[in-house]
Amino acid sequence: MSETMTPETMTKAAVLILLGPPGAGKGTQARMLEERYGLVQLSTGDLLRAAVAAGTDAGRAAKSVMEAGGLVSDEIVLAILKDRMAEPDTAKGVILDGFPRTPGQAEALDALLAEQGLKISAAVSMEVDDAAMVTRVSGRYTCADCGEGYHDSFKQPAVDGCCDKCGGKAFKRRADDNAETVGARLTAYHASTAPLIAYYGQRGVLRKVDGMGAIDSIAADLGRIVDEVTA
Ligand code: AP5
Repeated sequence: MSETMTPETMTKAAVLILLGPPGAGKGTQARMLEERYGLVQLSTGDLLRAAVAAGTDAGRAAKSVMEAGGLVSDEIVLAILKDRMAEPDTAKGVILDGFPRTPGQAEALDALLAEQGLKISAAVSMEVDDAAMVTRVSGRYTCADCGEGYHDSFKQPAVDGCCDKCGGKAFKRRADDNAETVGARLTAYHASTAPLIAYYGQRGVLRKVDGMGAIDSIAADLGRIVDEVTA
């Protein structure tokens, strides 16, 4: 059995990809891995929402696509991702949450990592049922201050109305977390992103976890994968 790694004992900069449809738990697990291993969560959804909120050119172009549940163009997503990957905190390793999402993005990622002398440590497919994803996504809310994720039924703060992580009292819900848009997002996932499971299978870096279990049990499965690929 592999030893549990810490940021100090990790010998390799990990590049971990979390693949899965909306609601699979990518963000929930990425934040837990970030805390446990000191890896940096890179969520293209979060980066795009920040661009929309800031009113940048990319954000203006992305807004209506995101509201409709479609995929933002590879050109915009890659520009945002490359800028974030260039920041020094990513040197200790990254968890890519929601990226890549198309074959074009996967190929561009391979090229970007090769330029930096890095390789994908593991691409983890979080295996879940579509029907459950609508329930998960429509019950989701986050702390408005620190972004910690919660769910009406599955994960509530220990003290009602008070974020476990930062004590914040304000919470928010995403504009695209409604049943209709989730349907479009699932369609986009199956059409454009699910083929990446085979892509990473062919490269020998694919891992699968059962994403239908309890949050802590999935975290333990992912932890074992990180321990193995960073040893
Ligand atoms: P993005 O923000 O990436 O959203 P998504 O992929 O649809 O994923 P979600 O954030 O909805 O789900 P998640 O898997 O992170 O689940 P979570 O952990 O929150 O993208 C949004 C949009 O941006 C896209 O539609 C697209 O337009 C655009 N975009 C982003 N990246 C792009 C790219 N690369 N290319 C093109 N366009 C891009 O969990 C969900 C809920 O379930 C939470 O409430 C959580 O508490 C709960 N939960 C989690 N795990 C469990 C569990 N095991 N059991 C019970 N409940 C659980």
